[in-house]
Amino acid sequence: MKGAAMSTPLSFFLYSSRLAPDCDPTEVGNIVKVAREFNASHGITGILVFDGERFTQYIEGPASEVDALVAKLPKDSRHTDFLH
Ligand SMILES: Cc1cc2nc3c(=O)[nH]c(=O)nc-3n(C[C@H](O)[C@H](O)[C@H](O)COP(=O)(O)O)c2cc1C
Repeated sequence: MKGAAMSTPLSFFLYSSRLAPDCDPTEVGNIVKVAREFNASHGITGILVFDGERFTQYIEGPASEVDALVAKLPKDSRHTDFLH
């Protein structure tokens, strides 16, 4: 591992939310596709659980990357009732 990567502080974030009433559950496939690509290229790993109604997501990675993603997530109109 490179020195810079070793000294980058890691961070994590856990939240739950609800699929927006006007969002079709099939949209979750698109969310995951985009998330996989973006997360992989930004050093973010984690899990996303969806039961057909609610999401629970855990993400971790470099603090600046996690912070930037966490700033975007609650603004996504495909989910509501963001709790963390
Ligand atoms: C439940 C849920 C989980 C999401 N998880 C991620 C994620 O892990 N990574 C990601 O890049 N986008 C995720 N998104 C999508 C982001 O909210 C956003 O649409 C995406 O980052 C693209 O943002 P941009 O259009 O501003 O670039 C998620 C969306 C939802 C509804």
